[in-house]
Amino acid sequence: MNFHFTEEQLAVRDAARDFARKELLPSVIERDTKEQFPVEQIKALGRLGFMGMIVDSKYGGSGLDMVSYVLAMEEFSKIDASTSVCVSVNNSLVCWGLERYGTEEQKQKYLIPLANGQKLGAFCLSEPEAGSDATSQKTTAEDKGDYYLLNGTKNWITNGNSASTYLVMAQTDPKKGHKGINALIVEREMEGLTVGKKEEKLGIRGSDTHSLMFQDVKVPKKNRIGEDGFGFKFAINTLNGGRIGIAAQALGIASGALEFSLKYAQERKAFGVEIAKHQAIQFKLADMATEIEAARLLCLNAAQKKDKGEEFSKESAMAKLFASEVAMKHTVEAVQIHGGYGYVKEFHVERLMRDAKITQIYEGTSEVQKIVISRALLK
Ligand code: CAA
Repeated sequence: MNFHFTEEQLAVRDAARDFARKELLPSVIERDTKEQFPVEQIKALGRLGFMGMIVDSKYGGSGLDMVSYVLAMEEFSKIDASTSVCVSVNNSLVCWGLERYGTEEQKQKYLIPLANGQKLGAFCLSEPEAGSDATSQKTTAEDKGDYYLLNGTKNWITNGNSASTYLVMAQTDPKKGHKGINALIVEREMEGLTVGKKEEKLGIRGSDTHSLMFQDVKVPKKNRIGEDGFGFKFAINTLNGGRIGIAAQALGIASGALEFSLKYAQERKAFGVEIAKHQAIQFKLADMATEIEAARLLCLNAAQKKDKGEEFSKESAMAKLFASEVAMKHTVEAVQIHGGYGYVKEFHVERLMRDAKITQIYEGTSEVQKIVISRALLK
Protein backbone atom coordinates (compact mmCIF):
# COMPACT_ATOMS: atom_id res chain seq x y z
CA MET A 1 0.00 0.00 0.00
CA ASN A 2 1.26 3.41 -0.95
CA PHE A 3 -0.74 6.44 0.14
CA HIS A 4 1.28 9.42 -0.94
CA PHE A 5 -1.59 11.33 -2.44
CA THR A 6 -1.10 13.15 -5.72
CA GLU A 7 -1.67 16.90 -6.05
CA GLU A 8 -4.91 16.14 -7.89
CA GLN A 9 -6.20 13.80 -5.15
CA LEU A 10 -5.45 16.40 -2.47
CA ALA A 11 -7.15 19.12 -4.52
CA VAL A 12 -10.28 16.96 -4.81
CA ARG A 13 -10.26 16.34 -1.05
CA ASP A 14 -9.85 20.05 -0.32
CA ALA A 15 -12.64 21.02 -2.73
CA ALA A 16 -14.97 18.46 -1.11
CA ARG A 17 -14.03 19.70 2.38
CA ASP A 18 -14.66 23.28 1.36
CA PHE A 19 -18.04 22.40 -0.15
CA ALA A 20 -19.06 20.45 2.96
CA ARG A 21 -18.24 23.36 5.28
CA LYS A 22 -19.70 26.14 3.15
CA GLU A 23 -22.64 24.50 1.39
CA LEU A 24 -23.70 21.55 3.54
CA LEU A 25 -23.04 22.54 7.16
CA PRO A 26 -25.24 25.68 7.36
CA SER A 27 -28.46 23.85 6.37
CA VAL A 28 -27.81 20.25 7.41
CA ILE A 29 -29.75 20.35 10.70
CA GLU A 30 -32.79 21.91 9.06
CA ARG A 31 -32.79 19.44 6.16
CA ASP A 32 -32.45 16.52 8.59
CA THR A 33 -35.27 17.81 10.79
CA LYS A 34 -37.64 18.58 7.91
CA GLU A 35 -36.59 15.54 5.84
CA GLN A 36 -35.68 17.83 2.94
CA PHE A 37 -33.82 16.47 -0.06
CA PRO A 38 -30.67 18.56 -0.79
CA VAL A 39 -31.92 19.78 -4.20
CA GLU A 40 -29.66 22.81 -4.54
CA GLN A 41 -26.64 21.04 -3.05
CA ILE A 42 -26.93 18.14 -5.51
CA LYS A 43 -27.22 20.57 -8.44
CA ALA A 44 -24.09 22.37 -7.22
CA LEU A 45 -22.23 19.07 -6.80
CA GLY A 46 -23.21 18.23 -10.38
CA ARG A 47 -21.82 21.54 -11.65
CA LEU A 48 -18.56 20.89 -9.75
CA GLY A 49 -18.21 17.43 -11.33
CA PHE A 50 -18.77 15.34 -8.18
CA MET A 51 -21.90 13.50 -9.36
CA GLY A 52 -19.94 11.62 -12.02
CA MET A 53 -16.50 11.97 -10.57
CA ILE A 54 -15.35 8.42 -11.40
CA VAL A 55 -16.79 8.49 -14.96
CA ASP A 56 -14.58 9.10 -17.99
CA SER A 57 -14.69 12.69 -19.24
CA LYS A 58 -15.90 11.49 -22.67
CA TYR A 59 -19.14 10.44 -20.92
CA GLY A 60 -19.60 13.67 -18.97
CA GLY A 61 -17.63 12.67 -15.86
CA SER A 62 -14.53 14.01 -14.14
CA GLY A 63 -12.35 10.96 -14.86
CA LEU A 64 -11.05 10.69 -11.30
CA ASP A 65 -9.84 7.57 -9.53
CA MET A 66 -11.40 5.66 -6.63
CA VAL A 67 -8.86 7.04 -4.14
CA SER A 68 -10.09 10.57 -4.94
CA TYR A 69 -13.66 9.30 -4.57
CA VAL A 70 -12.92 7.92 -1.08
CA LEU A 71 -11.29 11.22 -0.06
CA ALA A 72 -14.29 13.24 -1.28
CA MET A 73 -16.87 10.87 0.24
CA GLU A 74 -15.17 11.12 3.62
CA GLU A 75 -15.32 14.92 3.54
CA PHE A 76 -19.00 15.14 2.53
CA SER A 77 -19.97 12.48 5.07
CA LYS A 78 -18.26 14.23 7.99
CA ILE A 79 -21.08 16.75 7.73
CA ASP A 80 -23.95 15.34 5.71
CA ALA A 81 -24.48 11.64 5.01
CA SER A 82 -27.88 12.37 3.40
CA THR A 83 -26.12 14.21 0.60
CA SER A 84 -23.18 11.83 0.38
CA VAL A 85 -25.41 8.80 -0.19
CA CYS A 86 -26.83 10.52 -3.31
CA VAL A 87 -23.29 11.13 -4.54
CA SER A 88 -22.37 7.51 -3.83
CA VAL A 89 -25.39 5.84 -5.43
CA ASN A 90 -25.22 8.04 -8.53
CA ASN A 91 -21.48 7.52 -8.99
CA SER A 92 -20.75 3.96 -8.05
CA LEU A 93 -24.02 2.08 -8.48
CA VAL A 94 -25.60 3.86 -11.43
CA CYS A 95 -22.88 5.59 -13.48
CA TRP A 96 -20.19 2.97 -12.91
CA GLY A 97 -22.56 0.13 -13.83
CA LEU A 98 -23.61 1.89 -17.04
CA GLU A 99 -20.06 2.82 -18.01
CA ARG A 100 -18.73 -0.70 -17.36
CA TYR A 101 -21.54 -2.77 -18.86
CA GLY A 102 -23.75 -0.45 -20.96
CA THR A 103 -23.86 -0.24 -24.76
CA GLU A 104 -22.52 2.87 -26.48
CA GLU A 105 -26.11 3.92 -27.21
CA GLN A 106 -27.05 3.52 -23.51
CA LYS A 107 -24.01 5.55 -22.46
CA GLN A 108 -24.82 8.39 -24.87
CA LYS A 109 -28.47 8.52 -23.86
CA TYR A 110 -28.36 7.78 -20.12
CA LEU A 111 -24.83 7.95 -18.73
CA ILE A 112 -23.86 11.43 -19.96
CA PRO A 113 -26.72 13.35 -18.24
CA LEU A 114 -26.24 11.29 -15.08
CA ALA A 115 -22.50 11.90 -14.95
CA ASN A 116 -22.64 15.61 -15.76
CA GLY A 117 -25.19 16.21 -13.01
CA GLN A 118 -28.21 17.07 -15.19
CA LYS A 119 -30.03 13.96 -13.99
CA LEU A 120 -29.97 11.65 -10.98
CA GLY A 121 -30.07 7.85 -10.97
CA ALA A 122 -31.30 5.10 -8.66
CA PHE A 123 -30.37 1.44 -8.25
CA CYS A 124 -33.36 -0.84 -7.70
CA LEU A 125 -32.53 -4.28 -6.33
CA SER A 126 -34.16 -4.59 -2.88
CA GLU A 127 -37.73 -5.83 -2.62
CA PRO A 128 -40.17 -6.41 0.24
CA GLU A 129 -39.01 -10.05 0.34
CA ALA A 130 -35.55 -9.79 -1.22
CA GLY A 131 -33.03 -7.76 0.81
CA SER A 132 -29.89 -9.71 1.69
CA ASP A 133 -31.29 -12.66 -0.29
CA ALA A 134 -30.97 -10.74 -3.52
CA THR A 135 -31.36 -13.79 -5.78
CA SER A 136 -35.05 -14.08 -4.72
CA GLN A 137 -36.30 -11.33 -7.00
CA LYS A 138 -40.11 -11.32 -7.31
CA THR A 139 -40.28 -8.42 -9.77
CA THR A 140 -40.76 -9.92 -13.22
CA ALA A 141 -39.53 -8.80 -16.63
CA GLU A 142 -41.52 -10.93 -19.06
CA ASP A 143 -39.90 -11.28 -22.48
CA LYS A 144 -42.39 -9.94 -25.05
CA GLY A 145 -40.16 -9.93 -28.12
CA ASP A 146 -38.86 -6.41 -28.58
CA TYR A 147 -39.68 -5.30 -25.04
CA TYR A 148 -39.92 -6.56 -21.43
CA LEU A 149 -43.13 -6.24 -19.44
CA LEU A 150 -42.06 -5.15 -15.98
CA ASN A 151 -44.21 -5.88 -12.91
CA GLY A 152 -43.43 -5.72 -9.21
CA THR A 153 -42.37 -3.57 -6.29
CA LYS A 154 -38.96 -2.29 -5.18
CA ASN A 155 -38.31 -1.05 -1.64
CA TRP A 156 -36.01 1.42 0.12
CA ILE A 157 -34.81 3.00 -3.11
CA THR A 158 -32.32 5.81 -2.51
CA ASN A 159 -33.10 8.82 -4.78
CA GLY A 160 -36.46 7.10 -5.38
CA ASN A 161 -38.44 10.26 -6.09
CA SER A 162 -35.62 12.50 -7.30
CA ALA A 163 -34.17 10.15 -9.90
CA SER A 164 -35.12 10.14 -13.54
CA THR A 165 -33.20 6.99 -14.52
CA TYR A 166 -33.64 3.71 -12.66
CA LEU A 167 -31.57 0.55 -13.01
CA VAL A 168 -34.06 -2.20 -12.17
CA MET A 169 -33.27 -5.86 -11.53
CA ALA A 170 -36.10 -8.27 -12.41
CA GLN A 171 -36.67 -11.99 -12.96
CA THR A 172 -37.26 -13.07 -16.57
CA ASP A 173 -36.88 -16.84 -16.20
CA PRO A 174 -37.47 -18.13 -12.63
CA LYS A 175 -36.35 -21.65 -13.64
CA LYS A 176 -32.83 -20.29 -14.10
CA GLY A 177 -32.61 -18.73 -10.60
CA HIS A 178 -30.14 -15.87 -10.45
CA LYS A 179 -29.15 -16.58 -14.08
CA GLY A 180 -32.69 -15.62 -15.14
CA ILE A 181 -32.46 -12.06 -13.79
CA ASN A 182 -32.09 -9.02 -16.06
CA ALA A 183 -31.00 -5.44 -15.37
CA LEU A 184 -33.15 -2.88 -17.19
CA ILE A 185 -32.85 0.88 -17.63
CA VAL A 186 -36.22 2.38 -16.78
CA GLU A 187 -37.11 6.01 -17.39
CA ARG A 188 -39.18 7.96 -14.89
CA GLU A 189 -41.70 8.89 -17.61
CA MET A 190 -42.40 5.29 -18.68
CA GLU A 191 -46.09 4.49 -18.26
CA GLY A 192 -46.89 2.19 -15.33
CA LEU A 193 -44.15 3.40 -12.98
CA THR A 194 -45.45 4.83 -9.71
CA VAL A 195 -43.31 6.29 -6.95
CA GLY A 196 -44.63 5.07 -3.59
CA LYS A 197 -44.53 6.62 -0.17
CA LYS A 198 -41.44 8.31 1.21
CA GLU A 199 -39.94 6.35 4.10
CA GLU A 200 -39.67 8.13 7.46
CA LYS A 201 -36.22 7.14 8.60
CA LEU A 202 -34.06 7.11 11.73
CA GLY A 203 -31.10 8.64 9.89
CA ILE A 204 -30.06 10.03 6.50
CA ARG A 205 -33.39 11.83 6.74
CA GLY A 206 -32.53 14.33 4.03
CA SER A 207 -32.17 11.55 1.48
CA ASP A 208 -35.06 10.50 -0.62
CA THR A 209 -36.02 6.87 0.07
CA HIS A 210 -39.13 5.47 -1.60
CA SER A 211 -40.79 2.30 -2.77
CA LEU A 212 -41.42 2.01 -6.51
CA MET A 213 -44.26 0.14 -8.18
CA PHE A 214 -44.08 -1.18 -11.73
CA GLN A 215 -47.31 -2.18 -13.41
CA ASP A 216 -47.05 -3.43 -16.99
CA VAL A 217 -44.17 -1.07 -17.75
CA LYS A 218 -42.94 -1.68 -21.31
CA VAL A 219 -39.15 -1.50 -21.30
CA PRO A 220 -37.49 -1.73 -24.75
CA LYS A 221 -35.07 -4.65 -25.17
CA LYS A 222 -32.31 -2.18 -26.03
CA ASN A 223 -32.55 -0.98 -22.40
CA ARG A 224 -31.30 -4.31 -21.05
CA ILE A 225 -27.77 -4.10 -19.63
CA GLY A 226 -25.56 -6.94 -20.81
CA GLU A 227 -26.59 -10.35 -22.12
CA ASP A 228 -29.89 -12.03 -21.25
CA GLY A 229 -29.61 -13.29 -17.65
CA PHE A 230 -26.69 -11.03 -16.68
CA GLY A 231 -28.75 -8.90 -14.27
CA PHE A 232 -27.72 -10.54 -10.99
CA LYS A 233 -24.04 -10.51 -11.89
CA PHE A 234 -24.45 -6.88 -12.97
CA ALA A 235 -25.94 -6.01 -9.58
CA ILE A 236 -23.41 -7.94 -7.52
CA ASN A 237 -20.37 -6.71 -9.45
CA THR A 238 -21.66 -3.13 -9.22
CA LEU A 239 -22.30 -3.49 -5.48
CA ASN A 240 -18.73 -4.70 -4.93
CA GLY A 241 -17.56 -1.23 -6.01
CA GLY A 242 -20.50 0.57 -4.40
CA ARG A 243 -19.41 -0.79 -1.03
CA ILE A 244 -16.24 1.31 -1.23
CA GLY A 245 -18.44 4.41 -1.39
CA ILE A 246 -20.49 3.36 1.62
CA ALA A 247 -17.34 2.36 3.52
CA ALA A 248 -16.00 5.87 2.86
CA GLN A 249 -19.34 7.31 3.96
CA ALA A 250 -19.08 5.38 7.25
CA LEU A 251 -15.48 6.56 7.61
CA GLY A 252 -16.60 10.15 7.14
CA ILE A 253 -19.41 9.85 9.68
CA ALA A 254 -16.90 8.51 12.22
CA SER A 255 -14.22 11.10 11.47
CA GLY A 256 -16.83 13.87 11.58
CA ALA A 257 -17.82 12.63 15.06
CA LEU A 258 -14.16 12.74 16.09
CA GLU A 259 -13.67 16.29 14.77
CA PHE A 260 -16.75 17.58 16.61
CA SER A 261 -15.59 15.76 19.76
CA LEU A 262 -12.06 17.18 19.63
CA LYS A 263 -13.44 20.70 19.33
CA TYR A 264 -15.98 20.24 22.11
CA ALA A 265 -13.51 18.54 24.48
CA GLN A 266 -11.15 21.52 24.25
CA GLU A 267 -13.91 24.07 24.91
CA ARG A 268 -16.10 22.48 27.54
CA LYS A 269 -14.95 22.75 31.12
CA ALA A 270 -15.80 20.37 33.96
CA PHE A 271 -14.21 20.04 37.39
CA GLY A 272 -12.24 23.23 36.72
CA VAL A 273 -10.50 22.21 33.48
CA GLU A 274 -11.32 21.50 29.81
CA ILE A 275 -12.72 17.99 29.61
CA ALA A 276 -9.90 17.12 27.15
CA LYS A 277 -7.59 17.24 30.18
CA HIS A 278 -9.43 14.30 31.77
CA GLN A 279 -7.97 10.92 30.95
CA ALA A 280 -11.46 9.42 30.60
CA ILE A 281 -11.99 11.68 27.55
CA GLN A 282 -8.42 11.35 26.24
CA PHE A 283 -8.73 7.55 26.09
CA LYS A 284 -11.99 7.78 24.16
CA LEU A 285 -10.43 10.20 21.65
CA ALA A 286 -7.38 7.96 21.24
CA ASP A 287 -9.52 4.88 20.57
CA MET A 288 -11.66 6.78 18.10
CA ALA A 289 -8.68 8.16 16.17
CA THR A 290 -6.91 4.78 16.03
CA GLU A 291 -9.88 2.81 14.73
CA ILE A 292 -10.85 5.58 12.29
CA GLU A 293 -7.32 5.50 10.85
CA ALA A 294 -7.60 1.71 10.44
CA ALA A 295 -10.96 2.16 8.65
CA ARG A 296 -9.41 4.81 6.39
CA LEU A 297 -6.58 2.46 5.40
CA LEU A 298 -9.06 -0.31 4.57
CA CYS A 299 -11.08 2.08 2.40
CA LEU A 300 -8.01 3.35 0.58
CA ASN A 301 -6.69 -0.19 0.12
CA ALA A 302 -9.93 -1.32 -1.56
CA ALA A 303 -10.00 1.84 -3.69
CA GLN A 304 -6.38 1.44 -4.75
CA LYS A 305 -6.93 -2.20 -5.71
CA LYS A 306 -9.90 -1.20 -7.86
CA ASP A 307 -7.87 1.59 -9.46
CA LYS A 308 -5.14 -0.91 -10.32
CA GLY A 309 -7.64 -3.31 -11.89
CA GLU A 310 -7.02 -5.95 -9.22
CA GLU A 311 -9.70 -8.15 -7.60
CA PHE A 312 -11.15 -6.10 -4.73
CA SER A 313 -14.50 -7.61 -3.65
CA LYS A 314 -13.06 -9.04 -0.39
CA GLU A 315 -11.31 -5.75 0.39
CA SER A 316 -14.39 -3.62 -0.31
CA ALA A 317 -16.49 -5.87 1.94
CA MET A 318 -13.81 -5.64 4.68
CA ALA A 319 -13.73 -1.86 4.39
CA LYS A 320 -17.50 -1.57 4.61
CA LEU A 321 -17.79 -4.06 7.45
CA PHE A 322 -15.11 -2.41 9.57
CA ALA A 323 -15.83 1.23 8.76
CA SER A 324 -19.55 0.86 9.47
CA GLU A 325 -18.87 -0.81 12.84
CA VAL A 326 -16.40 1.98 13.68
CA ALA A 327 -18.95 4.62 12.65
CA MET A 328 -21.65 3.16 14.89
CA LYS A 329 -19.35 2.61 17.86
CA HIS A 330 -17.64 5.99 17.80
CA THR A 331 -20.66 8.15 17.05
CA VAL A 332 -22.12 6.70 20.26
CA GLU A 333 -18.85 7.67 22.00
CA ALA A 334 -19.04 11.17 20.51
CA VAL A 335 -22.51 11.63 22.01
CA GLN A 336 -21.12 10.44 25.36
CA ILE A 337 -18.22 12.91 25.21
CA HIS A 338 -20.71 15.72 24.54
CA GLY A 339 -22.89 14.66 27.49
CA GLY A 340 -26.30 16.36 27.47
CA TYR A 341 -25.24 18.56 24.52
CA GLY A 342 -24.64 15.42 22.50
CA TYR A 343 -28.30 14.54 22.80
CA VAL A 344 -29.53 17.71 21.09
CA LYS A 345 -29.41 18.57 17.40
CA GLU A 346 -27.30 21.72 17.60
CA PHE A 347 -24.09 19.80 18.31
CA HIS A 348 -24.40 17.50 15.27
CA VAL A 349 -23.22 14.24 16.84
CA GLU A 350 -26.72 12.85 17.53
CA ARG A 351 -27.40 13.13 13.76
CA LEU A 352 -24.12 11.37 12.93
CA MET A 353 -25.08 8.59 15.38
CA ARG A 354 -28.45 8.13 13.67
CA ASP A 355 -26.83 8.29 10.21
CA ALA A 356 -24.19 5.72 11.14
CA LYS A 357 -26.71 2.88 11.57
CA ILE A 358 -27.68 2.65 7.91
CA THR A 359 -24.07 2.01 6.88
CA GLN A 360 -24.34 -1.39 8.63
CA ILE A 361 -27.45 -2.18 6.60
CA TYR A 362 -27.50 -0.85 3.03
CA GLU A 363 -25.45 -2.16 0.10
CA GLY A 364 -25.34 -5.39 2.09
CA THR A 365 -25.64 -5.80 5.84
CA SER A 366 -22.56 -6.50 7.99
CA GLU A 367 -23.57 -10.16 7.82
CA VAL A 368 -23.56 -10.06 3.98
CA GLN A 369 -20.04 -8.54 4.07
CA LYS A 370 -18.93 -11.45 6.26
CA ILE A 371 -20.39 -13.90 3.70
CA VAL A 372 -18.46 -12.17 0.90
CA ILE A 373 -15.21 -12.12 2.91
CA SER A 374 -15.42 -15.71 4.16
CA ARG A 375 -16.30 -17.06 0.69
CA ALA A 376 -13.25 -15.31 -0.75
CA LEU A 377 -11.09 -16.82 2.01
CA LEU A 378 -12.48 -20.33 1.59
CA LYS A 379 -12.71 -20.62 -2.18
N1 CAA B 1 -18.84 -10.73 -6.34
C1 CAA B 1 -18.98 -11.35 -7.52
N2 CAA B 1 -19.80 -12.41 -7.72
C2 CAA B 1 -20.49 -12.86 -6.64
C3 CAA B 1 -20.39 -12.26 -5.36
C4 CAA B 1 -19.52 -11.15 -5.23
N3 CAA B 1 -19.37 -10.47 -4.07
N4 CAA B 1 -21.22 -12.91 -4.50
C5 CAA B 1 -21.81 -13.88 -5.22
N5 CAA B 1 -21.37 -13.84 -6.51
C6 CAA B 1 -21.76 -14.71 -7.62
C7 CAA B 1 -21.46 -16.18 -7.31
O1 CAA B 1 -20.17 -16.52 -7.72
C8 CAA B 1 -22.53 -16.88 -8.12
O2 CAA B 1 -22.12 -16.96 -9.47
P1 CAA B 1 -22.13 -18.37 -10.29
O3 CAA B 1 -23.51 -18.93 -10.16
O4 CAA B 1 -21.75 -18.01 -11.67
O5 CAA B 1 -21.11 -19.22 -9.60
C9 CAA B 1 -23.71 -15.93 -8.08
O6 CAA B 1 -23.18 -14.63 -7.77
C10 CAA B 1 -24.72 -16.30 -7.03
O7 CAA B 1 -24.01 -16.48 -5.86
P2 CAA B 1 -24.58 -17.25 -4.62
O8 CAA B 1 -25.34 -18.49 -5.03
O9 CAA B 1 -23.44 -17.41 -3.69
O10 CAA B 1 -25.63 -16.20 -4.08
P3 CAA B 1 -26.35 -16.15 -2.69
O11 CAA B 1 -27.80 -16.18 -2.96
O12 CAA B 1 -25.78 -17.15 -1.73
O13 CAA B 1 -26.04 -14.62 -2.18
C11 CAA B 1 -24.91 -12.70 -1.42
C12 CAA B 1 -24.82 -14.03 -2.17
C13 CAA B 1 -23.46 -12.28 -1.23
C14 CAA B 1 -25.58 -12.80 -0.07
C15 CAA B 1 -25.63 -11.68 -2.33
O14 CAA B 1 -26.98 -12.06 -2.54
C16 CAA B 1 -25.61 -10.27 -1.79
O15 CAA B 1 -24.61 -9.59 -1.95
N6 CAA B 1 -26.72 -9.81 -1.16
C17 CAA B 1 -26.82 -8.44 -0.65
C18 CAA B 1 -27.49 -7.57 -1.65
C19 CAA B 1 -27.27 -6.14 -1.37
O16 CAA B 1 -26.16 -5.68 -1.13
N7 CAA B 1 -28.35 -5.36 -1.43
C20 CAA B 1 -28.25 -3.95 -1.28
C21 CAA B 1 -29.29 -3.27 -2.09
S1 CAA B 1 -28.74 -1.90 -3.00
C22 CAA B 1 -28.65 -0.60 -1.93
O17 CAA B 1 -28.68 -0.71 -0.74
C23 CAA B 1 -28.43 0.68 -2.64
C24 CAA B 1 -28.90 1.88 -1.95
O18 CAA B 1 -29.99 2.34 -2.19
C25 CAA B 1 -27.97 2.60 -1.03
